[in-house]
Amino acid sequence: MDESPDLGLYRRSNYKEVWTALSATEAAAKTHVGGSEDEEELTRSGIGTTNFLLENVGVDSSDVVLEIGCGIGRVGKQLASRCRKWIGCDVSVRMLNLAADRLREFPNVELVETSGYDLKPIADVSVDLVYCTAVFMHLEQWDRYNYVEEAFRVLRAGGKLYVDNVDLCSEKGWEIFQRHRQFRPETRPAHITECSTPQELEEYLWRAGFEDIQTFEGNELVSVWGRRPKES
Ligand SMILES: C[S@@+](CC[C@H](N)C(=O)[O-])C[C@H]1O[C@@H](n2cnc3c(N)ncnc32)[C@H](O)[C@@H]1O
Repeated sequence: MDESPDLGLYRRSNYKEVWTALSATEAAAKTHVGGSEDEEELTRSGIGTTNFLLENVGVDSSDVVLEIGCGIGRVGKQLASRCRKWIGCDVSVRMLNLAADRLREFPNVELVETSGYDLKPIADVSVDLVYCTAVFMHLEQWDRYNYVEEAFRVLRAGGKLYVDNVDLCSEKGWEIFQRHRQFRPETRPAHITECSTPQELEEYLWRAGFEDIQTFEGNELVSVWGRRPKES
């Protein structure tokens, strides 16, 4: 059963209202985070994302790691034991409460409520890796870039940023684009996926000052990561 409220009533950029409504129950929160209420499926996909970060971007056991839009801690649950500190930021307090419950076994987890537009509670140059997965698809382009700039601010010199989105240039991304095009503007749900091109994400990282920018184009997702220069 679809427990979604009528999200045609909300503005997309009113992230706090939209995502508070989408996480009204634990079942709804899980479904909107991982596409499934099933714990085994959430674990399987959380391991998949974590392995991608470990194998491609690199995570050191001494790292302070921060996730933008951490949801219920699907990835944090797999990553917290692999780093010194894991900070989960989210616009929805309901998501953060569920994350707190699911990650209570880890003493190195901190959860932070954010405005939806920045990482204000996080100090400058205090983090080694920032990642943001399955979130850009719900944001307006300006807010995607705001987070890339904010990540640059909170990262230590040499620290890394990873972002992803559904790739408009993939067959699956194009299918999603066509499907969502069917909504009339006035009934378009506030949270539906808006894709990125690889070039869009690369441009954000380059414009914000990142270097060593790398791109991976999968079946559906495009992932882009880069490093804050050592001399910055
Ligand atoms: C699809 S879920 C993904 C959660 C998590 N990243 C994962 O992959 O399991 C999107 C998450 O982003 C959060 N979110 C949405 N808009 C946000 C914003 N503007 N700033 C921070 N978090 C946001 C939502 O509350 C939700 O927890």
